[in-house]
Amino acid sequence: MKMLIEKGTLVTAEGTRPGDLLIEAGRIAAVGTHGAFEDLCRETDCERIDAGGCYVMAGGVDVHTHMEMPFGATNSSDTFETGTRAAAYGGTTTIVDFAMQRRGQTLQEGFDAWRARAEGHCSVDYGFHLIISEVTDGVLKEMESLVAQGVTSFKLFMAYPGMFYLNDGEIFSVMQRAAEIGALVMLHAENGLVIDVLAAQAMAGGNTAPRFHGTTRPPELEAEATHRGIALAALAQSPLYFVHLSAAGALQEVTAAKDRGAQVFAETCPHYLFLDATDMDREGFEGAKFVCSPPLREPGNEEDLWEGLARGDLSVVATDHCPFCMAGQKELGSDDFRAIPNGVPGIEHRMDLLYQGVRAGRLSLARWSEIASTAPAKLFGLYPEKGSLSPGSDADIVIYDPAERHVLSAASHHMAVDYSIYEGSEIVGAVRDVILGGKVIVYRGDYKGAPGDGRFKARARWQADS
Ligand code: URP
Ligand code: ZN
Ligand code: ZN
Repeated sequence: MKMLIEKGTLVTAEGTRPGDLLIEAGRIAAVGTHGAFEDLCRETDCERIDAGGCYVMAGGVDVHTHMEMPFGATNSSDTFETGTRAAAYGGTTTIVDFAMQRRGQTLQEGFDAWRARAEGHCSVDYGFHLIISEVTDGVLKEMESLVAQGVTSFKLFMAYPGMFYLNDGEIFSVMQRAAEIGALVMLHAENGLVIDVLAAQAMAGGNTAPRFHGTTRPPELEAEATHRGIALAALAQSPLYFVHLSAAGALQEVTAAKDRGAQVFAETCPHYLFLDATDMDREGFEGAKFVCSPPLREPGNEEDLWEGLARGDLSVVATDHCPFCMAGQKELGSDDFRAIPNGVPGIEHRMDLLYQGVRAGRLSLARWSEIASTAPAKLFGLYPEKGSLSPGSDADIVIYDPAERHVLSAASHHMAVDYSIYEGSEIVGAVRDVILGGKVIVYRGDYKGAPGDGRFKARARWQADS
């Protein structure tokens, strides 16, 4: 059966216009002016969705999530089932999660383990990056096989010695190999060796509270690592993508590299745009709710990030959704901030929060759609199936009502975590309907999908004009 989404305002990376979408066999069949498909829909069976007064956009693409991710002594609290259902509620129709090679494992073993966890459980489409935790000749060789299976990006850590940390030589070797095989290297840029020294000194001085997570990971160590990563990638002639860029100094390094013509890209996350280091100072152990890496930065820093997004030096906003409950998880670090699992929840609120940026005049509607959907789809080999409202694209669509109001709260969100970092925040605008491959999975704010609606997406290799 055909579906007609009519009377809405189409919002794409190119701009906005009134328009109707015709959907057939899970894809966008045609795009026209209001009423353009009236005759066709009168003659044939056609499900109609009235989008009057709403924005009609390509489904959100969140390229940074961690479902069921092991971190220290625990795992992130959203499963693929709960986390992707929350994504659907929030207007995200594709995620790219991080599979992980553990030390001693092949890359294939890491990918297979994560794929098995996700298969049949996801409400939205999903792909994988792969975290490389150990670099050997075998791993470098094996990267090509993962790329051939649609895992075309690899995350490397300059932080977390003893866990994920790789040294510069290892990072450089992966970059060289990525350049050969059409893969994109994603970098967690913080100088983990120096952070560990500062963290040990803080603990020795009796400074155990959550806020010392922030003071021992200063922005200088993100800027330094960003600078180093850019230099290594230039030498390796490899494209480079910085995950969760948090600070003005790191952004300056990315801006300078872009000005030199380097193939360097960066994402930031909603929590760096809407929260700051003062949240880690909250009473008692409350600050643990906000512990993530890089940490939240000093008030005022977010202005640079918004400007970077508007200018295009920041290409993407992804959530780095990595939730841990306060009960039994964050509280593992009640005597030692180093034991607080790093990460915050956010997959459900990205579209809403960014829309507040539109309302505040920080982003255009077109840029909202671009940073939440089109740009990540292009950078990670999902375009034009994802991130586009063109004929032939997957019918992954969000109908967004700019007039609806709601309040973010742990009592009403759908993520499997016992607190909200945005508790009590008022949002103007709401995801009304969500369509995945032509199937309505959220209707008037209610979930209508099922685990297994989402399919694994093999992603294309990196292309220089992404
Ligand atoms: O604190 C964070 N960001 N946790 C998730 C792991 C990572 O580094 O992305
Ligand atoms: Zn990271
Ligand atoms: Zn992450």
